[in-house]
Amino acid sequence: MSNMHVGIIMDGNGRWARTQRKPRWRGHLAGVESVRDIVRAAPDLGIATLTLYAFSSDNWKRPQAEVGRLFWLLREYCARERAELLENGVRVTGIGRRDRIPRSALNELERTECATSGNDRLNLRLAIDYSSQWEIARASRDLAHRVEQGTLAAEEISTDLLTKALSGGVPPVDLLVRTAGEQRISDFMLWEMAYAELYFTTVLWPDFRRADLTRALADFRRRERRFGGLPAHAAPPPALVPDARAV
Ligand code: FPP
Repeated sequence: MSNMHVGIIMDGNGRWARTQRKPRWRGHLAGVESVRDIVRAAPDLGIATLTLYAFSSDNWKRPQAEVGRLFWLLREYCARERAELLENGVRVTGIGRRDRIPRSALNELERTECATSGNDRLNLRLAIDYSSQWEIARASRDLAHRVEQGTLAAEEISTDLLTKALSGGVPPVDLLVRTAGEQRISDFMLWEMAYAELYFTTVLWPDFRRADLTRALADFRRRERRFGGLPAHAAPPPALVPDARAV
């Protein structure tokens, strides 16, 4: 599969910092290096869409100083990496709420989105102030408004329509990677991951590099994806109701 959508929950920055006897923000800083490495590697590894969970809506609960550092890092990443992203054919899109992102970070994100909008080698989606449940509620609200306005019939609301309202034309997630040992989804792309394969590793995000992603993809390629069907080689199941002619 060479047009994959991979989602990554980048976890373990704080633990990494602790192992280095450094403050937590140094873990986030080191995490940016992993982001750089993985974004460079992704297109070579057959990934067409990469969604990184950079800041969940629950992360607002963290101390203000840490939140401030995270948005500073996002701003710096967008500003400093823009030229390389552009050159490497990466298109950057932010997903999530925009109304609470600090102005300076939002400006840099929007500049990067604008500058890279013509690229198509890798669609890099940064989930910032993101909550999947919130997105599903937002998409439902949008559809409800269309019903109110009379441009959509309630009966027309289908899984396809909700998919479009949620994430436009972005394909569903094939593989979710979560680092640092936790085995949770944490409100990340719940709808889009309906049939995703899940890969958990104990590697902390600041240590996660191209070789780790290559391992995750090799594991994914060994799996048999059935989407609720049967294995390709399986014999048809015996009939539950005996054939009337045979009785
Ligand atoms: C989880 O580690 C990580 C985050 C909440 C933020 C991820 C952000 C980055 C990697 C840097 C900025 C991103 C981009 C795209 C430039 P944690 O702090 O929860 O770690 P812990 O569970 O070990 O404490």
